[in-house]
Amino acid sequence: MEGLEKVCSFLEKTQTYYLATVDGDQPRVRPFGTVLIFDGKLYIQTGKVKPVSKQLAANPKAEICAFDGETGTWLRVSGELVNDDNKDVKVAMLDKHPGLKLMYSADDDNTQVLYFKNATAVFSSFTAAPETITL
Ligand SMILES: Cc1cc2nc3c(=O)[nH]c(=O)nc-3n(C[C@H](O)[C@H](O)[C@H](O)COP(=O)(O)O)c2cc1C
Repeated sequence: MEGLEKVCSFLEKTQTYYLATVDGDQPRVRPFGTVLIFDGKLYIQTGKVKPVSKQLAANPKAEICAFDGETGTWLRVSGELVNDDNKDVKVAMLDKHPGLKLMYSADDDNTQVLYFKNATAVFSSFTAAPETITL
């Protein structure tokens, strides 16, 4: 499996990951679940009204972490999260996560998709050497 797909599949399997952002000198972290590969990039989704969106606008550096208890493997992806106002990727994101359509549409002023840029993914466990993938 190609590296990007391996990262996305892991996040789909664990369902929940934790997204850390920077708020001044204060780290902020919260659960997220949206993930999509589009045009060879890894996307997540949020709402522009949320503090997380405002933090990323001020400082795009972010890290996500997810843990697969079945294999004892965790994944960290660190890099920058870049806003993308392309409607096609918003439509694809909402189609992949249809529950979002209760709150979001591709045409509203709130729906935001962001992709990882200059990102590194590291798979770790207590039993194997770390595996690093450049996204
Ligand atoms: C399992 C789970 C998955 C979530 N996935 C997302 C998501 O993909 N995008 C999102 O914007 N919020 C998601 N949320 C809600 C955010 O965690 C919540 O809105 C949080 O307060 C956002 O962070 P902020 O308050 O710092 O902006 C999810 C919540 C849970 C419990």
